[in-house]
Amino acid sequence: MDNLITHIRRRLQTLQELGFQIWLSAGSDKSAIVGSSFSAEISASQPDDKLTRLQALSKEVAVCRKCPLGSLRKNPVFGVGNPDADLVFIGEAPGAREDETGLPFVGAAGELLTRELAKHGISRGEVYICNILKCRPPNNRDPLPQEIAACEPYLLTQLDILRPKMLCGLGRFAVMTLLRRPISIMKVRGTWRLYHNIPLFISLHPAAVLHQPQNRGYFEADIARLAAAYHRRQESLPQPTME
Ligand code: SF4
Ligand code: URA
Repeated sequence: MDNLITHIRRRLQTLQELGFQIWLSAGSDKSAIVGSSFSAEISASQPDDKLTRLQALSKEVAVCRKCPLGSLRKNPVFGVGNPDADLVFIGEAPGAREDETGLPFVGAAGELLTRELAKHGISRGEVYICNILKCRPPNNRDPLPQEIAACEPYLLTQLDILRPKMLCGLGRFAVMTLLRRPISIMKVRGTWRLYHNIPLFISLHPAAVLHQPQNRGYFEADIARLAAAYHRRQESLPQPTME
């Protein structure tokens, strides 16, 4: 029993290092998990492998200076979520709030995304959320090609560890970067492509929707369609459009 408690404590510590906020119930010697801001499902019987590998990669990112953004950031934003997630969201780069907290999509855009997912019964704790760039570009300018080239290998390693069933690229810039060609987001939103053989859903960016409230309905429709595919994932995976 003591071993189990030690094991659970260690896992909780690791999850906290990865950005989960977990409260332990005071006065309980069983360390019961009474809540988590991302309602992480934690099972003591899961193998530690993914978590250990993610943690090692996140430590590498924490000291990375492969591009100049490494010395401009306040905090690296590695990514957060369920190591066994079937769905991984990929944004462009951290913004101001993300740089402050070290967590992805925690600003207004992130709140909108979280709310929209919740409407379809998807919690942040069951998915995984990250960005192409792990450090914030000054004044939220677009990432430069050399920054993307330096940072994308981290994303690929992250996906190799997570092995999700599907991805969601958020916004024109992230999707263009992943697909390596210019796109018209209004034309391709709501459809599926492939990124390194993983089905990639294309959605408007929640921040773009905050700036252009007239597009809100499109974003809601994107997340609804993504959620439908996600809920069907055990029976069938999305068929990407080949171009
Ligand atoms: Fe390293 Fe990526 Fe940060 Fe550049 S943006 S310093 S490549 S982690
Ligand atoms: N926009 C992004 O693309 N990523 C974040 O983490 C926050 C806002």
